[in-house]
Amino acid sequence: MDIHSQKILILDFGSQYTQLIARRIREAKVYCEIHPYNCGLDFIRSFSAKGIVLSGGPSSVYDKGAPTVDKRIFALGVPVLGICYGMQLASKLLGGKVERSKKREYGGASVHVDDKSDLFKEIVPKIKVMKEPGVVCPDYLPFSNLSTDEAPLSVWMSHGDKVQELPKGFRSVAYSNNTSYAAMEDENRRIYGVQFHPEVVHTPNGDEILRNFIFRICECMPSWTMKSFIETAVADIKEKVGGDRVVCGISGGVDSAVAAVLVYRAIGSNLTCIFVDNGVLRKNEADKVESTLKKSFRMNIRRVDASNRFLKKLKGIEDPEKKRKAIGGEFVRVFEEEAKKIKNVKFLAQGTLYPDVIESVSFKGPSATIKSHHNVGGLLKKMKLKLVEPLRELFKDEVRALGRELGMPDEIIDRQPFPGPGLAIRIIGAVTEERCDILREADSIVLEEIKGAGLYRKMWQSFAVLLPVKTVGVMGDERTYENTVALRAVTSVDGMTADWVRMPYEVLERISTRVINEVRGVNRVVYDISSKPPSTIEWE
Ligand code: XMP
Repeated sequence: MDIHSQKILILDFGSQYTQLIARRIREAKVYCEIHPYNCGLDFIRSFSAKGIVLSGGPSSVYDKGAPTVDKRIFALGVPVLGICYGMQLASKLLGGKVERSKKREYGGASVHVDDKSDLFKEIVPKIKVMKEPGVVCPDYLPFSNLSTDEAPLSVWMSHGDKVQELPKGFRSVAYSNNTSYAAMEDENRRIYGVQFHPEVVHTPNGDEILRNFIFRICECMPSWTMKSFIETAVADIKEKVGGDRVVCGISGGVDSAVAAVLVYRAIGSNLTCIFVDNGVLRKNEADKVESTLKKSFRMNIRRVDASNRFLKKLKGIEDPEKKRKAIGGEFVRVFEEEAKKIKNVKFLAQGTLYPDVIESVSFKGPSATIKSHHNVGGLLKKMKLKLVEPLRELFKDEVRALGRELGMPDEIIDRQPFPGPGLAIRIIGAVTEERCDILREADSIVLEEIKGAGLYRKMWQSFAVLLPVKTVGVMGDERTYENTVALRAVTSVDGMTADWVRMPYEVLERISTRVINEVRGVNRVVYDISSKPPSTIEWE
């Protein structure tokens, strides 16, 4: 079956959770795409979705210029599910009434649902299990064997307005203390709405509700698997590239490595990978990545040791954004020099992911640049290269599943994200070779201990930061005056928000003892307990 034939269209009204809706649907093995709410009825028709989801959004349906959609989407014969703002908008467009509330309802709530509605069939309420010290993520467990009639569902609410009067043809299928219309349905026209957010983890039964929509109501088949994705992607790459040569920059990160292996699967030795060692990589990182990709896949890899060039460019720079620019600019120069040595290169392969694609077409416009990330846009123009981006449709977790399906080792697949500017943005202040060495050693102990404690895969990122702070200590009988290392460990789903890890004290103790004893030049270790926002994950 064509992997794109059974698909759901998500119209984005600006909710911070829209991407999560897509991820939940993909996890159910159904393909879906996010498009801005104003993509037009012609586009919506031509998309041929089996179902349409209207996302939440920050507006009120009564705001001047509030995002809306052509009412005719409700007459296409395609099931529609409105979430939060999406439900309010559907109500308003179909003749119901929406009430402007003075107070926002934000956070956990309980709703009683009608399990005769297709949306809530066969759902066993789950409850949250409390976070204990040392437990990295919260968990949700089924709530004995009570049905939804007897026990309410825990859901996540985040809304100002609410539906006050249902449109004609609709009935209420859920209520809470705060509203008689926490969910609504018109079974005949197959139009549904939920006031809460089924896509977030704080609605523990949310994925079942979304699955009910896509399978029971839209009658989709679960055809989106990484196995079938590979077949389609390999055929597409072959067709696009033909017999031309492709270069791909690999950084040691998951995305570029998976993109490279996928392109290699399609065109074999016509692909050359370039791995730039910028001198600010982790300990043994370049060796490990090179040997894994060469050993397991026998790929063409050119490794360029450009550490001296990068360190020279970084000399004396303290400002984080200037560090990023220096590294980004030098990367493009080194990459270009190397790529020019390969004859007849026509394409550049990149591991661009779906979240970047959505960001660039978002109706909200590009989000404010808090930290600039390097890109190779300049290369394309200068070298007249065309782009191959085989991961453009995928989320990060799908990239990992794809890598596994391609037979890539866990060592690469399960890597935590590592920023392009590497250790340079984890050495606060000026970057020198000596400071790189100190941080590399400390960081390697951090990783070793976290892996040893079985925590590595449970965390989004865990690493050491070298501070420009010297403090007094005592070692043996001698007074020392040395560097401070900060330890950072966070959980996150996408890097946009993050929480600090409630790390077991024993692990903290082992890390601290080993770093102070084994790394020359460090006499103090501190633990970072800031979440994002208001902090960021990296220190620079
Ligand atoms: P922040 O520090 O903004 O980081 O909370 C969010 C995620 O992005 C990574 N990061 C970068 N990745 N180039 C990259 O390729 C960069 O300049 C950069 N800065 C931050 C960071 O490691 C985290 O996963």
